[in-house]
Amino acid sequence: MTGAGTAARTLDPVQELHDAPLAPLTTLRIGGPAARLVTATTDDEVVAVVRAADAAGEPLLVLGGGSNLVIGDAGFPGTVLRIATKGFDLDGTRLTLAAGEVWTEAVDRAVLEHGLSGIEFLAGIPGSAGATPVQNVGAYGQEVADTVTEVVAYDRRAGETVTVPAADCGFAYRHSRFKADPDRYVVLRVTFALNDADGASGPVRYTETARALGVAEGERADLRAARETVLKLRAGKGMVLDPEDHDSWSAGSFFTNPILTEAEHAAFLARVAERLGPDVQPPAYPAGEGRVKTSAAWLIDKAGFTKGYGAGPARLSGKHTLALTNRGAATAADLLALAREVRDGVHAAFGVTLVNEPVMVGVEL
Ligand code: EPU
Repeated sequence: MTGAGTAARTLDPVQELHDAPLAPLTTLRIGGPAARLVTATTDDEVVAVVRAADAAGEPLLVLGGGSNLVIGDAGFPGTVLRIATKGFDLDGTRLTLAAGEVWTEAVDRAVLEHGLSGIEFLAGIPGSAGATPVQNVGAYGQEVADTVTEVVAYDRRAGETVTVPAADCGFAYRHSRFKADPDRYVVLRVTFALNDADGASGPVRYTETARALGVAEGERADLRAARETVLKLRAGKGMVLDPEDHDSWSAGSFFTNPILTEAEHAAFLARVAERLGPDVQPPAYPAGEGRVKTSAAWLIDKAGFTKGYGAGPARLSGKHTLALTNRGAATAADLLALAREVRDGVHAAFGVTLVNEPVMVGVEL
């Protein structure tokens, strides 16, 4: 009797809860409950839970750090699988992280304990390591596509674990094959090729960081100083988690930076000149094939939605116009109403349609 009970427990190691609140598991702290919430701490558990849900035809939501996620007020009607796998494995300068590793902690260890560069400008980004290849996480001129060599994922269509080399990951600005086909892959492990550059950072590729570090763009800085500088800059924008600071109760950038074709860009510049005068130059970065990336934060600002905009429980961050924040009691409905107001206002002002960056569950913009 006792023996059987023990055996059952060891055979069923995953933690399982019913009607479980999801809001505390997201950085926005918004969203209704999960019908069932399962926490997996090994790859085998992850695969077993996914297989069982798929076999039963049950809806499945895979949850990492909850930092890029808007969950609707009705919650999730099926199984929410929380990935809590651990693993920081260094082989020379090759780093393999389990999907459940906390990204900021992994960056800190790579930089501070091992003196390795390649992800130092991605310090302070909330979320899990497994989520980083999905939206090709990037900041301050670095993105994980620069260093990822392969991703091990469970392929739900094939019903097997696959190794996807970087070249097959379809990495683009805030995009990948995993994001393009969201119900197909569950990331289990990610491998990065880092560099041992004798305490130097990778090339500094962002004006703001170059200025703060006192180097020219393209030069290298001190590795540890690069990490510290990024953390300070992010904190100044409310982009480092701080439970005391409602400006950080967000999903990071709520919209991607629009990438415009040459013709769209010309039309946009004409609208800017008409509205703001001929001397105003909106941010413009080359995005390949004659296309131009402009700044969503700038568009929002110039459309009249300045820092702190809003009167309700969901407002723009007081530190950055691109973060939509929960001031404490916001619902998904409040947040989405603000997001639509901003998107529609920017479209009316400049003819550019902003697209949400976070994953939406049970809600649409
Ligand atoms: N700006 C404003 N008002 C503001 C903030 C910014 O007008 O309140 C304008 C400024 O002209 C500024 C420009 O927007 O030069 C760009 O702002 P920033 O340098 O803060 O970068 P971003 O384009 O808004 C992107 C990423 C961030 C990343 C930073 C730093 C996207 C969607 N966002 O923001 O990523 O941390 O660069 O590299 O690509 C995220 O993806 O969640 C995220 C936070």
